[in-house]
Amino acid sequence: MQFPPIVARFPHFLHGGDYNPEQWLKWKDTIWKEDMRLAKAAGINSLSVGIFSWSMLEPAEGEYQFEWLDEVMDMLAEHKIIAVLATPSGAKPAWMSKQYPEILRVNALRQKMLHGDRHNHCLSSPVYREKVRAINTLLVNRYKDHPALGLWHISNEYGGECHCPLCQAQFRTYLQQRYRTLDALNEAWWTTFWSHTYTDWEQIESPSPLGEINLNGLRLDWRRFTTEQFVDFYRHETEPLRSLTPSIPCTTNLMGTYPGIDYYRLAEVLDVASFDSYPRWTGTAQDKEVACRTAFNYDLTRGLKGKPFMLMESCPSATNWQVVAKLRRPLVHELQSLQAVAHGADTVQYFQFRKSRGGPEQFHGAVVDHEGSENTRVFRDVAAVGTRLKTLDALVGSDTPSKVGIIFDWNIRWALDDAKGFLQDKTGYEQTVVNHYHSFWQMGVPVDLIDSTRAFDKYTLLVAPMLFLLREGLAQRIDQFVQNGGIFVTTYLTGYVNESTLTFLGGFPGPLKETLGLWFEEIDALFPGESNSIEWCGKSYRAFDLCELAHLRGATALGTYRSDFYAGYPALTVNQRAKGKAYCIAARTDTDLLNDFYRNLVQEAHIKPALEYSLPDGVTAQIRSNDKTDFVFVMNCTDTIKTVNTTQSESFSLAPFEVRIIER
Ligand code: GLA
Ligand code: ZN
Repeated sequence: MQFPPIVARFPHFLHGGDYNPEQWLKWKDTIWKEDMRLAKAAGINSLSVGIFSWSMLEPAEGEYQFEWLDEVMDMLAEHKIIAVLATPSGAKPAWMSKQYPEILRVNALRQKMLHGDRHNHCLSSPVYREKVRAINTLLVNRYKDHPALGLWHISNEYGGECHCPLCQAQFRTYLQQRYRTLDALNEAWWTTFWSHTYTDWEQIESPSPLGEINLNGLRLDWRRFTTEQFVDFYRHETEPLRSLTPSIPCTTNLMGTYPGIDYYRLAEVLDVASFDSYPRWTGTAQDKEVACRTAFNYDLTRGLKGKPFMLMESCPSATNWQVVAKLRRPLVHELQSLQAVAHGADTVQYFQFRKSRGGPEQFHGAVVDHEGSENTRVFRDVAAVGTRLKTLDALVGSDTPSKVGIIFDWNIRWALDDAKGFLQDKTGYEQTVVNHYHSFWQMGVPVDLIDSTRAFDKYTLLVAPMLFLLREGLAQRIDQFVQNGGIFVTTYLTGYVNESTLTFLGGFPGPLKETLGLWFEEIDALFPGESNSIEWCGKSYRAFDLCELAHLRGATALGTYRSDFYAGYPALTVNQRAKGKAYCIAARTDTDLLNDFYRNLVQEAHIKPALEYSLPDGVTAQIRSNDKTDFVFVMNCTDTIKTVNTTQSESFSLAPFEVRIIER
């Protein structure tokens, strides 16, 4: 399958990054000129401008100065560089906060913020919305026909939340639309507990340590509401852009597994998903885990829209906010960039092009360092990526086919984070999903990360770790998937609550009991250092943290617990149901069990890895394919030389962190 290029007129990889020429306005005759020369030398063909430029565009209310941006846009066009043009709402000018204090955010403690930092505006404020509409309209009118314009970059890393009176009112309206009656809301939130019944919508306040903090339904709906606020704000921001530049795609840069917004929902309104990636490379053997976690984020971002995404930001060198701002080892920059491509990115972009001279990010890695020339190691690394990307035009828009779907769902994560019980501090949803993903990554089996609302029919294998919250109709869809011949895998803590976090009655996993052929009676939480063990296929595996005590009702026990009062209870089960099978891993285990388990399953289901040879530890493979060719990326994510055997007698070796692309 082949998708169109992200910028329709430009069938190449975008290579570039955040660019802030306004910081160098006084030195533009030298610095801007030099920037263009260096951009060319680094193989850079796109730059993101205007991201935090509001005070330079509107230095006083209603007084606009676009001339500098005109010059920048012209300069980019002249050098055939695509402009990723931003709306400036990510940070507002000081005059605006002073003049209209209502736009300042209020935190959960009901404290009004002062002006400063960024991402600090109220999303409900009519004044802020009006200011955003005005500046965005001016931007689109001015640049709609500009030859440099390639994409709209909406705001920057939407995040946070506001608890001001305006947002409270919006929240109540959201709840009224969702529940219609207070009765329905009270039931969904189980408010008879502790006498929390609401008798008037006005009594409802967003969650706060000063007041209502323990009502799970309220907390979950607040997060859903916050997501809807961002969806609505994004729509508001893009309205003038869409009407005047309908063919220019819009995106906003996302942050992987950022907990505050359900990205699957936000992605519905984006034309293309984009991701800011900041892996914590260590320069040690640990880096294969870092690579896997990075791959997870890439697959997650691609899954948001099920098509190629943008690596909107990445750091070519040390990331200043990381506790240890370690330098990239040779080839690591190329690995992280090509890894993104392997997992479906059609762009490799950086934060930032030129290092700022002052401010909080003056020591954040950049393509051009304070030294100012192309004679740095980092610059050469970036230029090498530019050169390599130029050879990969055939991959632009190509698909990342996969037969395995793994569910990662913000609603589940939120419900688990709030659930009081089990292991309060380490329910570990995100890490658990990553651990399951890890087994596939290691085998080089491509995976889609999806949320529980997506269609399952394209998958042979559907994995849903800790499927704690079941949305309406999900159990039926999973059952159908299995009955039609699919293989389904889930774990402990599955099927506990419905969409409102009310528990299912009649035994867990609630409406999945038939599918799995069992029911959970109790779950044991183990202290740190404690463990049980699971015997499966003559091997013993450690079980720890959480052990579900299940009773079979049709399923077969493949593995059982070895100790404690539940010795002999099923710990790994399978249920044959119509044409398919449903597995349950009832306890948390180390990755050894997951690896063995998924290796068997992948073989049994005839799921092909990207490369049909077994890969050495820390080497993985991914596939992108267009209508004609498969491009297999073989990536050494370790700091040692690795040998990959391609047949009985042939092999090739990969240098530390080397990526090889094989066409077939
Ligand atoms: C984020 C922001 C950028 C910059 C980088 C630094 O991704 O979007 O503006 O602050 O972090 O890593
Ligand atoms: Zn607000």
